[in-house]
Parts: sequence; structure tokens; C-alpha cells
Amino acid sequence: MADFLNCAADEIVFGPNMTTLTYMMSRAIGRDLGPGDEILVTRLDHDANVSPWLALAEQGKENGVTIRWAEIHEDTCTLDLADLASKINERTKLVAVGYASNAVGTINPVKEIVCLAHAAGALAYVDAVHYGPHGLIDVAALDCDFLVCSTYKFFGPHMGVLFGKREYLQRLRPYKVRPLTDASPNRWEWGTLNHECIAGITACVDYIADLGRRAHEPASLASLDGQPGRLSPHGPPNRRAAIAAAFDAIHRYEHSLMERLIAGLHNIPNLKIYGITDPAHFAERCPTLAVRVVNQTEEQTPLALATKLGEQGFFTWDGNYYALNLTEHLDVEKSGGFLRIGLVHYNTVEEVDRLLTALRQLVGA
Ligand SMILES: Cc1ncc(COP(=O)(O)O)c(C=O)c1O
Repeated sequence: MADFLNCAADEIVFGPNMTTLTYMMSRAIGRDLGPGDEILVTRLDHDANVSPWLALAEQGKENGVTIRWAEIHEDTCTLDLADLASKINERTKLVAVGYASNAVGTINPVKEIVCLAHAAGALAYVDAVHYGPHGLIDVAALDCDFLVCSTYKFFGPHMGVLFGKREYLQRLRPYKVRPLTDASPNRWEWGTLNHECIAGITACVDYIADLGRRAHEPASLASLDGQPGRLSPHGPPNRRAAIAAAFDAIHRYEHSLMERLIAGLHNIPNLKIYGITDPAHFAERCPTLAVRVVNQTEEQTPLALATKLGEQGFFTWDGNYYALNLTEHLDVEKSGGFLRIGLVHYNTVEEVDRLLTALRQLVGA
């Protein structure tokens, strides 16, 4: 995971999932915070990077921190950076931001936001769960203080991983049992670890590195699926470089599918895409699309569409996907949220075309 995130091995903490790790870390960070301190969260984030911070505001009125919210541009579902910057001040102790939205696919300018946080002396806590399968994560380049991801989102076992800068993992005080070592990072890893899953995480990181090595071969990424490990003698020499090459190939391949999907969705009358749709800004989104039928009938709610697509073998999803503040803010929560269509590197052009045909029929276009 140190290769995957570009940090030192003792800056990696394993845990059950991102949500649990974030509650653990928010509680430890909250020990040193009190009235007058502020934490900035965003309207775009998954609730796992919101509620653990809201919990610090609930610690009894006299102890609680103040939570501030960074708003979004509704037309593009992107963060309003001017608003975000205006809410960071000398009282801000932490900025919690997502790398990419799991609902609408927006990729946030995380590096810029980390700089804004640091300029005010605040910590930056990044939720990279949704970005993980789509792009290369480099915590050294981002200079974030914490970054969390979930290995099951990038084709590995059901676990969460937290990166924390060494100085914070050593300095902050975890809630832990007394006999557990105080050595970092183990002081953050409670109880018996899930060793078999951690072994699986090694395999999952190696799988991605292997994609990078094979991406140097002439075959396309899609046609590699299922082939036995065939390493190119010309591939990148070390694992980090191979992971970088993999995400380069994944990005190019996913984006070609995404462009086809968005163009097809645009041709379905009465279907609205939420999030970035201007090709000039496609670099600021990953291939996760949220759509709704305008003036939907009962047969066209996100749940009804996801169910009917499921019957045809398409695994889409409906609702808020825990990006609750976004669906509430866009006023789609009460009418079923969005239908979410997500692409990853093993999807194919044929699947995109079949999905578009199925959707066209369901929407009655
Ligand atoms: C953006 C984002 N953050 C956080 C989470 C929570 O991750 P975990 O299930 O590892 O707690 C998810 C899960 O879907 C997610 O998509």
C-alpha cells in the first residue's frame, strides 16, 4: 500500500473499512479540539467523510467544534472553491474533502485544497475511496496529512487503509487498549488484524502493477482481462512505476468508454446527467454518472430503472450512495436520488452500447 499511495510503510494503517478508520481518527483528532475550533466539510462528500466530523460538534454544546460547509456549483456538481476558501480561517483545524464524488464523479482539486488548509494551519483529510480505482494517488505530491481508501473499491478485499503523515500518527493519541504497543502505525491497528485480507491486498496491488507492466504490450487493456500473468520485459521496473503506468492506461481506456456513454446518454430525450458534461472538463471527472428521467413516472424512478437494468444483467445502483448532502441539496433525495452508472477498466464498448439500448427502451425514447 505504500507503493500504491507513495509513502513510507510505517505511514500505512490497516482497518476494517474507510468509515471505521475515519471515526477512529476523528475521535483521536477531536481530543485536542474544542469550542471555537472549526472543521470544514463539503456538500459533495460521501457521509463517511462528514458524519465522523459532525460527531465532534455533538460532544455537548460547550465542548463541540463548529462545522462549516463548502457549497457546490449545482449546474456542474463541482465544489465552489471560492466559497470553500472563504470558509477557511485561523480557527479552521481540519478540512475534510473527497478526492472524487462517488455519486456524480467529480474529481476535486485536492492539492489546491490541501494548500488552502495548510496556509491556515489546518490539517487536510482526504477521502480517496472513489478515486482509488480510477487514478494514481500520490500522497507525497498532494502533501495531505491523511488519506483514506478502501481496497475493495480497487478490486481487492473488504478492508480500509489510512495513510497518515508519520508525525501525526506518532503525536496524536489513539483510543486503544493498554497492552497494545505504542509504536506507530500499530498503535492505530486495534485487535487482531485481518491477516488474510492484508495478504489479499498485496495481491490486489500486484494485479494493478501487472496491468501497468502489460499496458506496455500492444494489446488493449480490455483484451487483457483474464489472461495469465505475462510480464513485458519492457515494462516499468519497479512496482510504483508499474502502478503509475497502469493508471495511465486505465485513465485513457475508461475515458474513451465514458465519452461514448455520455454521448449516448445525451441522445436519450428526457434523461438528465448530473455533474460535468462539458468535454473540455472531462479531466475533472471519473466515469461515474448520475442520471434521472426528467418528470419521471413511477416506472422510471432510479429504483425502478436500476431494478429493470439488473434483470438484464446490468449492475447499476439507485439512491444517494451515502452522498446524502448532495441528493438533499439537489432536492432529489425524496424522489429516489439518482440512477448511477459506473465504469471501470474491465468494462467494454459492447457493454456500454447494450446499456444505452436498454436504457433507451426503459425511458421510452
Ligand atoms: C467516496 C466514498 N467514501 C467512503 C466510502 C465508505 O467506504 P467504506 O465502505 O470502506 O467504509 C465509500 C463507499 O462507498 C465511498 O464511495
